[in-house]
Amino acid sequence: MDVIKTATTPFPDQKPGTSGLRKQVTVFQQAHYLENFVQSIFDTQRLAGGTLVIGGDGRFYNRQAIQVILRLAAANGVAKCLVGQGGILSTPAVSCVIRKYQTNGGIILSASHNPGGPQGDFGIKFNTDNGGPAPEKVTEAIYQRSLALAEYRTLDTEDVDLDTIECFNLGGMHVEIIDPVSDYAELMAEQFDFAAIRELLSGDFRMAFDAMHAVTGPYARRIIEEQLGAPAGTVLNGIPLEDFGGGHPDPNLAHAAELVAMTQGDDALDFAAASDGDGDRNMILGRNIFVTPSDSLAVLAANADAFPPWRNGIPGIARSMPTSQAADRVAEKLDIPCFETPTGWKFFGNLLDAGRIAFCGEESFGTGSSHVREKDGLWAVLAWLNLLAARRRPVADIVHAHWETFGRNYYSRHDYEGVDAASAETLMTTLRARLGELSGSTISGRSIRLADDFSYTDPIDGSVSAHQGIRILFEDGARIVFRLSGTGTVGATLRVYLESLETDPARQREDTQETLADLIRLADEIAAIRQHTGREQPDVIT
Ligand code: G1P
Ligand code: ZN
Repeated sequence: MDVIKTATTPFPDQKPGTSGLRKQVTVFQQAHYLENFVQSIFDTQRLAGGTLVIGGDGRFYNRQAIQVILRLAAANGVAKCLVGQGGILSTPAVSCVIRKYQTNGGIILSASHNPGGPQGDFGIKFNTDNGGPAPEKVTEAIYQRSLALAEYRTLDTEDVDLDTIECFNLGGMHVEIIDPVSDYAELMAEQFDFAAIRELLSGDFRMAFDAMHAVTGPYARRIIEEQLGAPAGTVLNGIPLEDFGGGHPDPNLAHAAELVAMTQGDDALDFAAASDGDGDRNMILGRNIFVTPSDSLAVLAANADAFPPWRNGIPGIARSMPTSQAADRVAEKLDIPCFETPTGWKFFGNLLDAGRIAFCGEESFGTGSSHVREKDGLWAVLAWLNLLAARRRPVADIVHAHWETFGRNYYSRHDYEGVDAASAETLMTTLRARLGELSGSTISGRSIRLADDFSYTDPIDGSVSAHQGIRILFEDGARIVFRLSGTGTVGATLRVYLESLETDPARQREDTQETLADLIRLADEIAAIRQHTGREQPDVIT
């Protein structure tokens, strides 16, 4: 039944990042395209005789892609595949299943928060046996192989049934269709005090969780409604749709505006949260308050004793460089290390594997812990519910008390999208050339303590990642960071991260953009943003 087909173009014309290969659905629908990528995985990773986890966020082309992958897996000698029922597995759930059953890796079908549907995006990524995204050397090997690939191996078979929980044989390979939720739900029950959350939810506490028609619907329904007893209907948009209902499954103030509105006004909910397409991002809201992802990480770390696995403390925290320094202030008080890593979840992997950190996060709505090797949207939501159950205070009270104790790191990210790539590059090189002159200087009355191009040496394997973004650190704790996005598709995206520190509780409730106005002006003065981008204003402010 084995068939060897000759791989023909088109071929992945782009090196897959750690978020995998992300393209429009129409690109993936080209003959051989997906097959070529998948064969490159089998040719470079030792998966023959091994076990693979397969699942995705349910977007358009998810099911077709799984059929293709199963045929190639069987023809390439994979012994066993664990596939999420209906093709569904959230990104953190894939990580959980890989770790729990000690498989040789997994393949995730998703384009994260990008829109789906026939005209939307699709994506595929490979996770290694620690449950985390493939490191650069693996993605590089897959890419290099793809450039030289001459043929791929597949089977000539009918599609298999992905909807029934059962085991069957496919060309000598054992296929097990698994419940996508149960292993993950079990892991969550170990991480949190479910009894306390159940009690909280049985009272007059009111909440909503928006699954945005994406993958977390079944997970949230099972865990939040069925296991923790929240009333039916707590989970909004809970059925995964191939086009996410035409929406943009990205949990932020702009794309989850209806949910935000439910936390404001007289009849406001006590708590609301959302997750993205593949379930790894999260947004946390309380009554009349949006908890920034940077603050969320800091607050969870400061309250780690509320979580059963961390009753006796946490070994350390990590944050990506552009994430606010709120977590550093917590680490200092707890006398534990806070690692500053480059942007991207993969940089937390070694620290998590080595047990050096418990919690980690990124300003881009990513929060997680050592329970898996991906950021985990529902984990963050359950962590907040656990915290609220333990403290019995409103979200805003907890956050305000946190600021009083640790100071408030006002924070905002300004994105300039679709900028001419050469101009964006010029902005960065011009700035890089001036770092020596800026360091130690005073500009518009503000003293710069250090200006550098962030470089990271991994404390576990010693690998160095240079040019990870330009940091301008001020004496008063304020900071401006400039970096170019690594995930954009059109032109370049310049991200400017602005942060200032306020330790005086009397001045901690002011408007973020107003408080940062001075720094926003300085950012332009330092980097000539308007001149290089030709833009007067950022396209997106978060
Ligand atoms: C963005 C985020 C980054 C995140 C990545 C993948 O990357 O900023 O924190 O890890 O998406 O979700 P960027 O476009 O900034 O390179
Ligand atoms: Zn995602």
